[in-house]
Amino acid sequence: MSRTLEIVDDVAAEFSERVIEAYLSRPSSTFSLALSGGSTARACYEHLAASAGTQIDWWNVDLYWGDERCVPLDDPDSNYRLARESLLDRVGAANATYPMRCDEGPDPYQLRLSELGRIDLVHLGLGPDGHTASLFPESAALEADPGRLVTSNTDPLGHNPHPRMTLTFTGIARAHLVLVTVSGEAKREALQRVFGDGDVPAARVTADRVVFLADRAAAGDLGPISG
Ligand code: 6PG
Repeated sequence: MSRTLEIVDDVAAEFSERVIEAYLSRPSSTFSLALSGGSTARACYEHLAASAGTQIDWWNVDLYWGDERCVPLDDPDSNYRLARESLLDRVGAANATYPMRCDEGPDPYQLRLSELGRIDLVHLGLGPDGHTASLFPESAALEADPGRLVTSNTDPLGHNPHPRMTLTFTGIARAHLVLVTVSGEAKREALQRVFGDGDVPAARVTADRVVFLADRAAAGDLGPISG
């Protein structure tokens, strides 16, 4: 397992490059990509949709989600709707899309991920409180059974709305590559803690490779870190 911090000028542009690179070097014909929510993710997907061109054949891509808010899929707060607006509607249909459906509970998604095996790329964001996906500080999902790949969760501190469904740390660890995109001064403290005392959920993310892509505003006096 490796974890690096890269300081980049344009997080969305760097994210797009890394996704294209991972797609082009995918180990099998179908590329599995788990998407995030949030405004940083929206910017990343809009850039990816505009820049992928013919480098990505979306008929070779299966889309998953790293987390979802338990709202209708056409709700403005839905991460599925975010991906549809910022990516899917712009590039056309993917080979398959697997939205998280809270009304079904986490077990069908657990089965789907079990059948999938490894995930080529999981995209995550970082909250100001140090959460990632919907793994919130002091929340039950942080201590999910090791066999759980996905679970329901809520933010016990009330900073993040809606009941959720989320990949667990075990689910995220199935990724060949995790990209964590971090932009803006509001994330500076959270990023410092990830690479400092580590006492935030995002510090517990593991996978074959975990790459934090942060702009200078988020990085503050942090420099590149490779480990
Ligand atoms: C969610 C996301 C969440 C998000 C971070 C960063 O459903 O809210 O999955 O983990 O990525 O909160 O969000 P911003 O990019 O909007 O700061």
